Amino acid sequence: MERSNGRVHHTCTLRLLLFTFYPIYCQASWMWLGLTSAGVAEQLGCADLPFTRAQKELCRKRPFLLPSIQAGARLGLAECQTQFKHERWNCTTSKDFNGSKDSKDFSVFGYELTSGTKEAAFIHAVMAAGLVHAITRACSQGAMAECGCDASLQGLGSPRQFLEGPPGNASSLRATSHALLAVNQHNSDAGRQAVDRTMLTECRCHGVSGSCAVRTCWRSLAPFERVGAALKERFENSVEVLRRSARQKVRRKDKVGRRGPLERDRLLYLHRSPNYCLEDLGRGILGTRGRQCSRTSRGADGCGLLCCGRGYNTRVVRRATRCACKFVWCCYVRCRRCESMTDIHTCK
Ligand SMILES: *[C@@H]1O[C@H](CO)[C@@H](O)[C@H](O)[C@H]1NC(C)=O
Ligand SMILES: *[C@@H]1O[C@H](CO)[C@@H](O)[C@H](O)[C@H]1NC(C)=O
Ligand SMILES: *[C@@H]1O[C@H](CO)[C@@H](O)[C@H](O)[C@H]1NC(C)=O
Repeated sequence: MERSNGRVHHTCTLRLLLFTFYPIYCQASWMWLGLTSAGVAEQLGCADLPFTRAQKELCRKRPFLLPSIQAGARLGLAECQTQFKHERWNCTTSKDFNGSKDSKDFSVFGYELTSGTKEAAFIHAVMAAGLVHAITRACSQGAMAECGCDASLQGLGSPRQFLEGPPGNASSLRATSHALLAVNQHNSDAGRQAVDRTMLTECRCHGVSGSCAVRTCWRSLAPFERVGAALKERFENSVEVLRRSARQKVRRKDKVGRRGPLERDRLLYLHRSPNYCLEDLGRGILGTRGRQCSRTSRGADGCGLLCCGRGYNTRVVRRATRCACKFVWCCYVRCRRCESMTDIHTCK
């Protein structure tokens, strides 16, 4: 029963965190922690971090959460870039845009985060999943003093109130649609769920000479790559939704699927994606010029798709490797130096 108790407590902390750390409607957000090096967040302090008021309050009251929140943001970001490294949109961050970042620039995904596309859906899901994964890990390793429910934190309000309340800038929030908030919340929730669904059950037998008369089982986190892969699959099967009215009710756009319920673990989006082919810095799109592609692949990384039909340049790169290595008695290895030529293709 010890364990189930522990689990209840973890769930409680997680719910609290998620409600507080649901992505908010501005381009600067807690996700920025994913781009910074360790210690920077602590140096800045809760008040100067790109947090909402509720997030700042949580940060002040529970500073021990900060390293896990940062670990979560990094986990989410790295997984996003791994999952999309062969796609036209490769999980571009503000680091890809401007080498020398303005220290006051807290944006991570820039325009993309609020675009309502399925790429944005993936960002919300994978970042929420990273957060849950990191906090759960820290809790289960006992790295944090408290992982339980805390009455003083309950006062932060229900998630609805939190989301609809102005996180510091009411005018910008009003200008954004409720449907987008609802969709982002749904996608963050789908991310949290993916962590839960991919959890593994491990058991150990007890009893005389492994008779397994008594068995103890527990759930453990799957490696985050598994969560990322599951979310990428959901991205591929994401559903376009319409808003019924200005309120946040959303429903499937395709007529066939409309009668069915909106499954909780689907990723949802409101707007079709741009093709990400050409540079559009205003919208944070780098374009695929200069990206390395595969001449033989028929997938997303193939030159045809990745270069959007513009064609590609080829250059030959000479690579030196150690080869034909032999063990020489006694005791060293002698190798020859081999050279090979490799063609590198990059989009025009
Ligand atoms: C990059 O930095 C330059 C100079 O600081 C600035 O003018 C430009 O708007 C920045 N671009 C983006 C996409 O942030
Ligand atoms: C709120 O957001 C709007 C639009 O993004 C901006 O023009 C305004 O300066 C912001 N106000 C504050 C107090 O940050
Ligand atoms: C994504 O693509 C851009 C070029 O469009 C490149 O500069 C950047 O390094 C790539 N990012 C990753 C994570 O591969």
